[in-house]
Amino acid sequence: MLKKKKAAVAAIDNGISIKDRTRIATGLSRVLADTYTLYLMTHNFHWNVTGPMFNTLHVMFMTQYTELWNAVDPIAERIRALGFPAPGTYAEFGTLSSIKEVAGVPKAMEMVALLVKGHETVARTARALLPAADAANDQPTMDLLTQRLDIHEKTAWMLRSLLKLRAAALRC
Ligand SMILES: [Fe+2]
Repeated sequence: MLKKKKAAVAAIDNGISIKDRTRIATGLSRVLADTYTLYLMTHNFHWNVTGPMFNTLHVMFMTQYTELWNAVDPIAERIRALGFPAPGTYAEFGTLSSIKEVAGVPKAMEMVALLVKGHETVARTARALLPAADAANDQPTMDLLTQRLDIHEKTAWMLRSLLKLRAAALRC
């Protein structure tokens, strides 16, 4: 069993050392866990949101959870391409994720605020890995992380703008 595992690792010779591949795959596992946790939170909020902004938020959350669902696959497959197993259980995601699960059903605008925090959290996790990928000359991981950073920061901005709209309406 061990022999087989060693042979599988040794078969990869793409110019990135095993030490760097291990570090990058570990970081990508954290990005994957954060992304999956945020996906589930967003889908949960799509199901359970209520209030006068129901339609806007229900549809917006659907767009967001679909994007997150599509994102987990390339992240997991980059981990595989680097020679490591991708985490794929709730137990592993619970250990690896920096995003806390939400208990109960928050109010609509609390959902928006929680999602802002969630997107900012994934952005921090992805950004923390960039220097290691850069130092190892791992362009595919850098490209993946850059794309994820762009979408998470853009989504956080859109959600944050909703919170400002709501605050302005309350002042009227
Ligand atoms: Fe739905």
